[in-house]
Amino acid sequence: MIEKVVEGKFLIDGKIIHCCVGIERGTIVDVKKSLDGETKIRFPRGLILPSAVDVHVHLRDPGLTHKEDFSTGTLSAAFGGVSCVIDMPNTKPPTVDKESCKEKISIGERKSYVDFGIYLGVNENNIKKLRDFEGLVTGFKIYLPDFDITLLGELSKLKVKRVLAFHAEEKRCIEKFGKKSENLIEHAKTRASVCEKTAVEKVLKEMEKTDFHIHFCHISSSISLYALSQFKKKVSVGVTPHHLLFKASRSLTPQSYYKVNPPLRTSLDQEALWEALLSGEIDIIESDHAPHTTDEKEVDFSEAPSGIPGVETMYPVMLYVFLMKGYPLERLVSALCSRPARLFGLKKGRIAKGMDADFIVVDLKKVKKIMADRLHYKCGWTPFEGMKGIFPTDLFVRGERIIEDEELVGDRGFGRFVKPREGEESCTEK
Ligand code: DOR
Ligand code: ZN
Repeated sequence: MIEKVVEGKFLIDGKIIHCCVGIERGTIVDVKKSLDGETKIRFPRGLILPSAVDVHVHLRDPGLTHKEDFSTGTLSAAFGGVSCVIDMPNTKPPTVDKESCKEKISIGERKSYVDFGIYLGVNENNIKKLRDFEGLVTGFKIYLPDFDITLLGELSKLKVKRVLAFHAEEKRCIEKFGKKSENLIEHAKTRASVCEKTAVEKVLKEMEKTDFHIHFCHISSSISLYALSQFKKKVSVGVTPHHLLFKASRSLTPQSYYKVNPPLRTSLDQEALWEALLSGEIDIIESDHAPHTTDEKEVDFSEAPSGIPGVETMYPVMLYVFLMKGYPLERLVSALCSRPARLFGLKKGRIAKGMDADFIVVDLKKVKKIMADRLHYKCGWTPFEGMKGIFPTDLFVRGERIIEDEELVGDRGFGRFVKPREGEESCTEK
């Protein structure tokens, strides 16, 4: 008999169907109208959706653990319906060599509530040796604001099989516009969208002929979307909930809490992002969870660090907005779950045979007001305060219940390190 069976209303391939999902050793082995299991868990109410794969989080561990750490960050992920996160390399020390990769993986294995991957930060020292890291990391990250763009030529000579994720803001362009800004509108000007567009174009020109999988993180402007449409190379594109839901304006207060890179921009940019997300031109939603403490944010705007937390609110807020606007849930689940998993070669994000048994249960009528003190971030604040969201009541990761009836039942250290399986490298095909 099958180890475990979960029965309820599942969203599968865009349809809501009542069925049973059979699970053995954390993997989905069968999806049928009825199944018997040694353990059977029924959800007579609620809807079961795949859980999210957030490919862009800054868990700040090691070295910056006054802002967040692997436990608090992944606990927040769990409560937000995220069963897998991929952590960014700008920790202390940065994740740029074998030692720091191994250290981060071991921290994650000790502290993580959900599965996790890591990025290697690409720099001038490791750029020629990226192939040596393929077996060790989940993806590569290039932060263009600190990167000598002429090195892209070196890169294009390599053949690496992991996703190469770009933060697309061009260094020289940002320098040209000057650094100081006193409010969000000025911040958007000092890091103008043309700097994002230029970065996108330079990367694509240099990499057009490579078979790299290029991912553009958190695209924020309509002109970058236009630039992307002018190239033939297949790439993937991400957007964040904050760029979809906020524009740079005086009414966001305190202003420094909304300071982020790339910056929040105009309502026209927001419209273009929504259109591209709904059409599939934007592939995925990623939180860019980048927490800073209130003390760090409560300084003069020009001195405040950029970055806002978001891993716990991403799925709940987006689910609520999609329902309110009548947008197809299938599109949301694709952008939060199946596309990111497939892009990074992970067997997650879909309720189907062979996939990890990762899913959430939601009661679509249980709309909650977002309040920082109900979230699990170490920083204690959220830019989405007072907005509405639908939080999962239950979360399963590899068949194990991590959240039950809105309470934590999972264990710290349960999360496993993930990377693409041999032969299942990243994939940009739709
Ligand atoms: O706003 C940002 N904050 N953008 C980044 O690229 C980095 C991030 C951080 O680490 O705080
Ligand atoms: Zn980031």
